[in-house]
Amino acid sequence: MKVLVIGSGGREHAIIKAIKKNKRVTQIFAAPGNGGISTEAQCVPIKATDKEAMTDFALKNSIDYVIVAPDDPLSIGMVDALEEKGIRCFGPNMKAARIESSKVFSKNLMKKYGIPTAEYETFSDPQKAIEYLKSKSDFPTVIKADGLALGKGVIIAENLQQALDAINTIMCEKKFGGSGANIVIEEFLKGPEVTVLSFTDGITLYPMISSMDHKRAFDGNTGPNTGGMGVIAPNPHYTEEIADVCEKTIFLPTIRAMQKEDSSFKGCLYFGLMLTEQGPKVIEYNCRFGDPETQAILLLLETDLLEIMQAITDNRLSDIKIKWSSKESACVVLASGGYPDSYKTGFVINGLNKEGSVDNENLFIYHAGTEYKDGSFFTKGGRVLGVTSVASTLDSAIYEAYKALESISFEGMHYRKDIGKY
Ligand code: AMP
Ligand code: GLY
Repeated sequence: MKVLVIGSGGREHAIIKAIKKNKRVTQIFAAPGNGGISTEAQCVPIKATDKEAMTDFALKNSIDYVIVAPDDPLSIGMVDALEEKGIRCFGPNMKAARIESSKVFSKNLMKKYGIPTAEYETFSDPQKAIEYLKSKSDFPTVIKADGLALGKGVIIAENLQQALDAINTIMCEKKFGGSGANIVIEEFLKGPEVTVLSFTDGITLYPMISSMDHKRAFDGNTGPNTGGMGVIAPNPHYTEEIADVCEKTIFLPTIRAMQKEDSSFKGCLYFGLMLTEQGPKVIEYNCRFGDPETQAILLLLETDLLEIMQAITDNRLSDIKIKWSSKESACVVLASGGYPDSYKTGFVINGLNKEGSVDNENLFIYHAGTEYKDGSFFTKGGRVLGVTSVASTLDSAIYEAYKALESISFEGMHYRKDIGKY
C-alpha cells in the first residue's frame, strides 16, 4: 500500500511514524515533508495547497491512500479534489472543514443546535463592531477573525482601546487578509483548557486521550499565542464525569448538527474546550489533528492508526475497537528565537543522531521546521522540534523530555520550561 501524507510539521512526522507500523504499507510519501520526515518517507516538493499537482502526483504514482493533515489544504477542498479522481483519503471535505475555516459558521452552528460556547456577535462592518464595543461594559472581550490566520487571529482585549485596536488591525489594516472580512466578538471564558481530538466517520465518534496544549510563547502562560509550545496527555483536569458531559452536550451534538447541515464530518475533529464554572464550553473546533497534541497522543494509541483511518473513509468506524495505553506523555517544543514573530533560520541543530533522533526508545524527536542537508539537520521554521516522551507517570514523562532536550541545541533555541505545570 502506497500512502501519501500532506503536510510538513511535527504532526505529520508523528502520523508517518504511526502508520509505518502497519505491515501493509510499502511506501510512504510526504508532500512537502521536512528534514526528519525525510528519514522515514520520500519527500516530494509539492506545496500542501497545490490541488492539481497533488492529484497528478497521486495518480501518476498509484497512491492508494492520502492523509490530508493541515487546515489549509482541507479548507480549500483538497479532499474533494482527490476524491473526484477516485483517490481514497483521510480528512473532511471542504464543506465540513468550514467547522474550522469559518468561525462565523461554527459559532452559528453551536447557537442553532444548543452546543455550549461563549456568547457572541458577528460583524462584517467595522463601524457596527466599534459601536457594539463602545456599548459594552465588560472586559476582557475576545475578538476573532472569521477565517484561518495561523492561530494568530484571536485577540483578547483587556479594555476598550485594545478592542478598537484589534478591529483596526483585523478589519481595516486587514492583517490577516480576507480571513478578517468578518469577525466574531465573544465572551471571555475562564477555566482550564482541554483539547479532545476525536475520530469520527460522521456517525460514530471516538474521543482520543485528552491533552493540554500550551499556546502562549513564554513561561507562566504569558506572551503571544503560538501554534502550541508543548503538550501533556492526558489532561489532568479532564475527569471521567467531565468526559461524559462533553460527549452528551458537545461531541455527539456536533457531529449530528454537521449531518443536519449536509456537512457530515469525516476525519479527526478537534474540540478546544474551556472547563468553565457553568460546565464545559467550546472555544474552537479544528477540522484536523492538533499540533503538537498529535505528537503526544499518537504515542499512546495501541490500535493501528491506518486501520482506524480507513474505517473512517469506508464509514465503518463502529466496527473498530480503539485501545489506549495507560501511560502518559509530554512534548516540549523547541522553537526558533523570536517565534511566533520574526525569527532567523538555517542554523545547524546539534545533538541529533543520523535519523534526527536520540538513542532512547522512550523518546521521540518529532521534526517540524527542519531541513536535512549535507549530513546535518538545520532549522527551517518557527517550531523546530518536539521532544516527546512516554512514561508510566506524567511527572516522569515531563522529566525525561526535559532531560533529553539538554543535549540538543541550535542558535537562538527557545522553549518553555513549565510544560505540564498548569
Ligand atoms: P483559538 O485560536 O480560537 O484556539 O484561540 C486561541 C486561544 O485564545 C485559546 O486557546 C484560548 O486560550 C484563547 N481564547 C479563545 N477564545 C477565548 C474565549 N472566548 N475566552 C477566553 N480565552 C479564549
Ligand atoms: N495546537 C493547536 C492546534 O493545533 O490548533
